[in-house]
Amino acid sequence: KTIAILHGPNLDRLGKREPEVYGHATLADLEDFIRVGARQRGLGTTFFQSASEGALVDKIHALTDEGIAGFIVNFGAYSHTSIALRDALSAAELPAVEVHLSDIKAREPFRHHSMTAGACRAMISGKGFGGYAEALDQITQWL
Ligand code: DQA
Repeated sequence: KTIAILHGPNLDRLGKREPEVYGHATLADLEDFIRVGARQRGLGTTFFQSASEGALVDKIHALTDEGIAGFIVNFGAYSHTSIALRDALSAAELPAVEVHLSDIKAREPFRHHSMTAGACRAMISGKGFGGYAEALDQITQWL
């Protein structure tokens, strides 16, 4: 079984972007971490990053049609605003976990609510890369 890991805007800047919030590791480091963790749990992975809300919506539909088993998503700032991404995930009717590297509840009030988490079975926030390991554990249990 293969799961899709979707990254939203600015996550391609990991390592350079506000390292005091997000750390010094890059998106490539994160994807390696997830790929290895998934393989240990018997799962394949496919990755997609975009700054475009529409591209992320289209990708969710395409992956669903291709038979993807589930999603781990971090839509970045779109998490807080995007009804379109929430609807796309709901329509997929597949297990999904939302991850945030930082603790969104401990940051500015506009980050406290996630719009897209409503379409996910779990939301993990503030655990850095470890949040992705937890998400893999969750999704492995469900599949
Ligand atoms: C983030 C938190 C969001 O509020 C922010 O817009 C991001 C990253 C996180 O992983 O902590 O881009 O999703």
